[in-house]
Parts: sequence; structure tokens; C-alpha cells
Amino acid sequence: MKHHNPRIPHALLAGLVATLLAGTATARPPVYATTAEKAFVDALLAKMTVDEKLGQLNQPPGVGNNTGPAAMAGSEDQIRRGEIGSYLGTQGAVLTCRLQRIAVEQSRLGIPLLFGYDVIHGHRTVFPVPLGESASFDPAEVQHAARVAAIEASAHGIHWTYAPMVDISRDPRWGRVVEGAGEDPYLGSVLAAARVRGFQGEDLRAPDAVLATAKHFVAYGAAEAGRDYNVADISERTLHELYLPPFKAAVDAGAQSIMAAFNEIAGVPMHAHQPLIEDLLRKQWGWDGLLVSDYTGVMELMPHGVAADREQAGILGLRAGVDVDMVSQIYVKDLPAAVKAGRIPMAQLDASVRRVLNAKYRLGLFDDPYRSCTDDGARERALTLTPQHRADARRMAQKSLVLLENDDQVLPLSKSVRTLAVIGPLADHRRAMLGNWAMAGREEDAVTPLEGLKAALGDRTRLVVAKGTDIDSQDTRGIADAVAAAKQADAVVMFLGEHPDMSAEANNRTSLDLPGVQEQLALAVADTGKPVVVVLLNGRPLSIGGLKGKVPAILEAWFPGIEGGHAIADVLFGDVNPSAKLPITFPHNVGQVPIYYAHKNTGRPPRTEEKYTSKYLDVPWTPLYAFGHGLSYTTFRYDVPVVSSATLKPDALEQQVSVRVTNTGKRAGDEVVQLYVRDDVASITRPVKQLRGFQRVSLQPGEAKTVTFTLGFDDLAMYDARMQQVVEPGTFTVFVGGSSDRTQQATFTVGAR
Ligand code: BGC
Repeated sequence: MKHHNPRIPHALLAGLVATLLAGTATARPPVYATTAEKAFVDALLAKMTVDEKLGQLNQPPGVGNNTGPAAMAGSEDQIRRGEIGSYLGTQGAVLTCRLQRIAVEQSRLGIPLLFGYDVIHGHRTVFPVPLGESASFDPAEVQHAARVAAIEASAHGIHWTYAPMVDISRDPRWGRVVEGAGEDPYLGSVLAAARVRGFQGEDLRAPDAVLATAKHFVAYGAAEAGRDYNVADISERTLHELYLPPFKAAVDAGAQSIMAAFNEIAGVPMHAHQPLIEDLLRKQWGWDGLLVSDYTGVMELMPHGVAADREQAGILGLRAGVDVDMVSQIYVKDLPAAVKAGRIPMAQLDASVRRVLNAKYRLGLFDDPYRSCTDDGARERALTLTPQHRADARRMAQKSLVLLENDDQVLPLSKSVRTLAVIGPLADHRRAMLGNWAMAGREEDAVTPLEGLKAALGDRTRLVVAKGTDIDSQDTRGIADAVAAAKQADAVVMFLGEHPDMSAEANNRTSLDLPGVQEQLALAVADTGKPVVVVLLNGRPLSIGGLKGKVPAILEAWFPGIEGGHAIADVLFGDVNPSAKLPITFPHNVGQVPIYYAHKNTGRPPRTEEKYTSKYLDVPWTPLYAFGHGLSYTTFRYDVPVVSSATLKPDALEQQVSVRVTNTGKRAGDEVVQLYVRDDVASITRPVKQLRGFQRVSLQPGEAKTVTFTLGFDDLAMYDARMQQVVEPGTFTVFVGGSSDRTQQATFTVGAR
């Protein structure tokens, strides 16, 4: 087990502004993977003018595939002059090949371009939104989804994806929770590493590898009030315990790129955050990758109020270690004079240029600039939307569906149901299959739930379809029709939730309720007494407590990707037994936010029967659905976990925790067995439990398996008052179960030195 100490001394943070103003930034040349790489980059750098160097750092927004040659004309001249190092959002094998040819054949130094693109959850074959994929708790499957995305994206000429998004967030008002892995830094770290490995593959020089970008560095998910781009004011401890771990995991998995976040932390915008970028990422972690700004992030140093003009913004960004200027075009346009006048040390500029050249070298672009594009588009066609990719997307979607409720075993439905009512605004909503950030996705590729149901049932079943209401409308006139449809049916499936543009960037909400009158619709339909199943399509936790006890079955489907309609039908009819778990807590209402399982106990732990404890008057202090919750069509019994050693010596911190899990139901099923740890008494207060492991087991009816976890230093450690990682002596409790709120426990002791 390795451990690290990614600590930033307080003094560094405090001295930040002074450091920036004094201009004492020290440039750090990157560590070279090989001497051949260093020699190549040295030689190239020696030939470059200041303008060419700044050009390598410039990343203008690209052009869509529909833009004709005329619209590209200005851009083409910029390429010829060496003013563009990379593109944002340009894709297509033919187009990227054409632009690459200009760079390689018509610019003075022939340096190839990098094509960057937001490949977030699949490319043309759209997979479930990242929060949905994360609900699978299945790193191998998530890695494979990223691999498929990389295969397709690279065939479209893309070299570099702006994913994975590894921001932890405990505020579902923030629309971007849909893009991440949820609330937990352990799950977030495991999946960050899986996604990096998937995108980058085994060999960066392979034509189907794309550079992965861990984003947004850092604490973007801490935006105050869940309002995107807002400030984050968090403690150094929270930064290290919660927000940094997935970045560290991505770096350890070999992530070649990191994107700076739009937010500030305690007064310092991340695009000017030299202590976190240069000192933590590069010096302490030894990361030598490419740091890219977010969209106009460098320019935004002006409205943040730390730069008076474009030149100052550029100087702050470059000095902080932001290598690539996405969209602002400040580096290329406003910094030449500053460099020539010595306001930016040449070594500083060179360090950033080297990192861009390294990335190109590592991808093999100097050997084969056309490695992933083709003049005839043949490779692109052959590798796009293949039957295998669609099958992979369907399997990922099946694994992302969380069964929240299943009273009276209403699910699975029988395929011999004679009349099925299909109700709700999302039943046949093509865009909702794609979700947000499906840049290359096409609605025409998507299978809607209605289509999935039809395909599964064939002509045997009569479907009665009623929309009932729109997603976000106060119009109740369709409810009567929906009720009438339900009355004719033997069973009802309702598709409710959010529009995909209600989550992701800048799409924040102050209510977590079902939008519009959808709850009213659901309750009216439930009142018919028919077996009703609600399938939710949404990008964040929803406060759907009003449905509990009224609607017998609820399936959380997120935005499930182009195969979502089939995957939902697979689960509704029991061809697939659901196994996903919530990667983020569902609150009773928005007033409970932030609410998360790894909370502190406080000096007055909540107790319902005692007034002066930490709770609410109007709702329980507990969540509606806890982190890790998710039902199956079968049931699992957990025995009490067993630890391998009652006492651990402080210099031999390896503990095995074993638990026997039995399938006590009548169907085969997968269970995600979760392991949580608590340091019972420590010098710093600790969360009541923290996820430290999970494993998926497949069990036949009646079958039992023993699942074993190994805990080491990292799993037991915490930061002490001096921010040193330590394992303190004393007792630890381990909790094992199928949800964070339903666990069995055991304790052990770590002895004193
Ligand atoms: C988003 C990033 C994205 C970038 C490029 C920004 O607005 O914050 O996540 O990668 O745009 O599209």
C-alpha cells in the first residue's frame, strides 16, 4: 500500500498573493519520460520564436463539421503562422486531417495540432451520464465505457478528451453533479483512475488512445449555494480529504492532463492558483502533464477582480502553471510583448511549451501526425456506433439502474401483461436518453423507453400511452387522460424526471422536487390502485419522498444513453436483475443539503426523542435514500464481518475483513458489498463512516460467498492537526453491508508505538 502526503503548508496559501505580485515564480521544466523525448523537445524548442511558443499554448474554439472551408479560412492562416497549438471541439476524421496537413506541411516548424473535445460519456455511442455509470460501482465496466468512447472519438480525429470530471459534490442543486461520480472521494478516486485508464489505454501512441483530463482542479463541486462558478471557501482539511483525492488517483493512473476550475478557493481563482498547481500538483505530486484552462478561464481572471487587463490575466495564468489557454486567446495575442519585455521569464514560458510538445510526442504525433484521422473517413465509419459498442452501452446502462423501491415485489413485470399503460413526459423523449454533454450524440440513435418496451413485448401486449403533462409545466389538463389510461391497464409504467438541460453546466436548481406537476400526475395515477412503477430520468438526486408509500416501485434510470430504452425494459421485465447503488444521497428536501453519509457525529448526535440534538423540526435528519442504497429482485443476508487480527501492530497495518453474503431470494443477482471504516476516537473528529472498499459478487439463489477486503495504511489514515497523514492508535470499527445505512460491524485495535 503506498501512501502520500500531498500537504500544502498554510504559509504557502497565505503568501500566495504576495508571491504572484512579486513575480518570483520559479519555472519547473517537466520530468521527461525518456531521454529521447527530452532531446527531441529540446531541439524543437531551440528553433521556436516567442510567437511560435505562445502559439503552442493557444487553443481556440474549433469549428463544427458543418462549417465549410470558407469559415475556416482565418483559422487556417493562424495555423500556417504557428499561432494554434490545439483546438477545442473540432472533430471529424476528414476535417481534422485537413487541418493537420496545414499545420504539418505549411507552418514553419510543422508541429502537429492536438484536437481536444468533450468526450464525456461515450462519443457517438452515448453511454449513461457519468453519475449513472458511477452507480454501477463497477470500475471494470466504467473503464470499458471510457475505452469505447476513446476508440470512437479517436476515429473522429480526437486526441484529447476533457474527461473524466472528478469533482466531488455534496450539493445536488449544482447541476454538474450529473457529470461526476457523486459525493464520495473513495468511489470518486477508484472511478477516476478507471476512466483515465480507459481513455488512455495501454499505450498512448496507439491510434485509439486519447489523453485524459481530470477536471476541474479543484473544489469546483464546493460552489456556494450550488450555484455554478460560485466561490468555494473550504478548509485545507476538506480540500485534502474530499476534493483532492480523485485528482491524486487520476495522476497516479497516469492522467496526462488536468483542467483548472472556474472557481476561486478562499479568494484565489484556480486559474491563478500557483500554490495548488505548481507547488502541489507539479512539485509535491511530481505530475508532469499538461494543465489546460477551462473555457475562457484565463480571461475570467478579470471579472474575478485579480487582473486589470488581458496581459495581467495572461501573466497570472502562465505563472500559476496554466499551460494551455482555452478560448481566451490571451496568451497568443496579449503576452508576446510581456515575454519580450521580460515580464514573464522565458523559462516559465518554455516549461509550458515543453508540456504541450511532450503531449504531442507521447501521442506519437511527431512520427505520425495523421495517426487517428483518415482522408476518406473510412476508419471513422468502421468504428462508429458498432453493434458491439451499442451492446456495451446497453450493459453499462443495465448496471446503472438503481431500484429505489419495490413494495410487494411489483417488479419485475410479467411480459404477458395484457395491457400496459405508459405514462409521463419522458416515455418517448429522445434527448433524455442522451443526457447533457453528449456532444457527438444524435437523437436518432437513441432507443426511448417506449421503444424499448415495444421491442421487449412485441404485439402480445396492448400499450396505452398518455403523456399526462410536460416536464416543467403547471398544466394539469392531461392528468385525467393519464388516469383513464391507467384504469384500462393491468400495470402502469411512468417516466418522470428532469429535462437533460436541467443538469450539467450552469443548470442549477433550488428545488430538488420533480419539476412541474409530475408528482401530482404520479399520485393521481397511483390512486387508481393499479400496480404502478415510476422510472426516473434525471441528472441529480430528487426529493421524491411524496411518492414513497404511494407508488410501489421506483427505478432510478438517470439519463441512460442511447441503449437506455432497451436497458430499462431489460430491468422492468426481469431479464436483468438490478444491482446499482446510489453514488450520492437523496434528501427529503433541498433544505437538508448538504447531506452525505460520511458526516461527523457532532457533540450532540441526532436522536429523534431528544430535543437538543442535531436535527430538524420538519423532516428527519436522515436521508430519503442513503448513499449505497439500491435494491435487487432477490435479497441478500450479511453475516457479521470477521477481522483477521483483533490488534494490529502500528508498523504492520494490514487488516483483512471478511463477510459471508448469502442470496436468500429466488433469483440470481449481483450485490455490491460495501466496506466502511471509522476511526472511533482520534485527535481530529472523524466521519461516522467512510467507504474504503466495495466488491460486486454474483450469487445464485441460496448461494453464499465470503468476500474479503484488505485494509492498509491509506484506509486507516487521516490528516492530523499538522496535516501529516497518520494512523493513530485506538479502536476502529468496520461496517459491511449493501448500503451505507444498513451494515453489520466489527472492531479491531491499532496498538500504540
Ligand atoms: C466546461 C468544461 C469543458 C469546457 C470545454 C467548459 O465550459 O466547464 O467542463 O470541458 O467548457 O467545452
